Amino acid sequence: MTALNPIPTTLIPGDGIGPEVVKATVAVLEALGAPFKWETQLAGMAAFNACGDPMPQPLLESIRKNGLALKGPLSTPIGEGFRSANVRLRETFGLYANVRPALTIVPGRFDKIDIVLIRENLEGFYVAHEHYLPVGDDPRAVALSSGANTRVGINRIARYAFEYAVKHGRKKITIVHKANVLKVLTGLFLEEARNVAREYEGRVAVDDRIVDACAMQLVLNPWQFDMLLCSNLFGDILSDELAGLVGGLGLAPGANIGKDVAIFEAVHGTAPDIAGKGIANPISLLLASGLMLDHVGHPELATRLRTAIDLTLNQDNVKTTDLGGKATTTTFTEALVKRLN
Ligand code: NAI
Repeated sequence: MTALNPIPTTLIPGDGIGPEVVKATVAVLEALGAPFKWETQLAGMAAFNACGDPMPQPLLESIRKNGLALKGPLSTPIGEGFRSANVRLRETFGLYANVRPALTIVPGRFDKIDIVLIRENLEGFYVAHEHYLPVGDDPRAVALSSGANTRVGINRIARYAFEYAVKHGRKKITIVHKANVLKVLTGLFLEEARNVAREYEGRVAVDDRIVDACAMQLVLNPWQFDMLLCSNLFGDILSDELAGLVGGLGLAPGANIGKDVAIFEAVHGTAPDIAGKGIANPISLLLASGLMLDHVGHPELATRLRTAIDLTLNQDNVKTTDLGGKATTTTFTEALVKRLN
């Protein structure tokens, strides 16, 4: 077999279980013969502890140069401290589209789920223009937050979603909103997404749902959904719900896509409750690396990877504890590598 051209890629081990699942993923990709040439860089709390900056310059230069990164989860201090490095990475590199597919691999409470959620990644409430107003002697008596959706940003994410549907043969997009209450912020999202939908009439069907009803319908009858198009906050919440439908956060990959840069990651966070115990499920990040293989034009390797994961889980019955099994991160990884050899 001729050697594949090496693809320089930034590798971010991340925080908490990040280094554990990243190590497993790198080992599996090596066994697969994936041609990534890794450049390891720190970000998040690991970088903050090492050099006082959660987004150090060498990290940013490496991502800018390579246009491609595989990222472990990064921890963000809650309520205080530095701003989320995840959000800042998306802003810095204009990663406007967050793609989160949810596909059943392990039959569970819900079988045969196949839904792709496209989340707007830069706007909405995540612009985080927040402040307090003092009343009397309480300096934080009132909390204020404003969201921002722009017509340009909505058009761009809606177009991405409809193009994705056409390219991947998906049939229907459901636009998720709260336009009955947030008539301006999410009303514009609905209006502009519908404008884009009209250009795809006859090729991709469209409907829309209020976010709370959508959350309920996802539990009652998830099979009615094909793709969801969401603004930032709603997409964040519903994609965790989707992960729950297919067996949990251990099985949910995500891609952050911009014009020049793409960063692939698991949907889950740093899982501080299990970090260092060696029991984290690496499949989310492995599936994210599968999306990365599709992205760089190696769908054949991505398919081999997904098939091997399926066989390891369902034929060899090797599963980590979150899926009801006994495997550790290492023993699952070894079983998967065996399937690839
Ligand atoms: P989390 O996703 O880290 O954990 C939620 C629950 O799921 C925990 O019980 C955890 O043990 C379990 N879990 C998550 N991933 C797992 C895996 N691979 N295998 C087995 N079990 C797994 O969410 P949480 O606790 O809300 O957030 C912790 C930290 O992660 C926070 O600092 C947050 O800001 C950060 N975070 C980072 C993200 C990223 O880098 N993309 C995404 C979400 C959260």
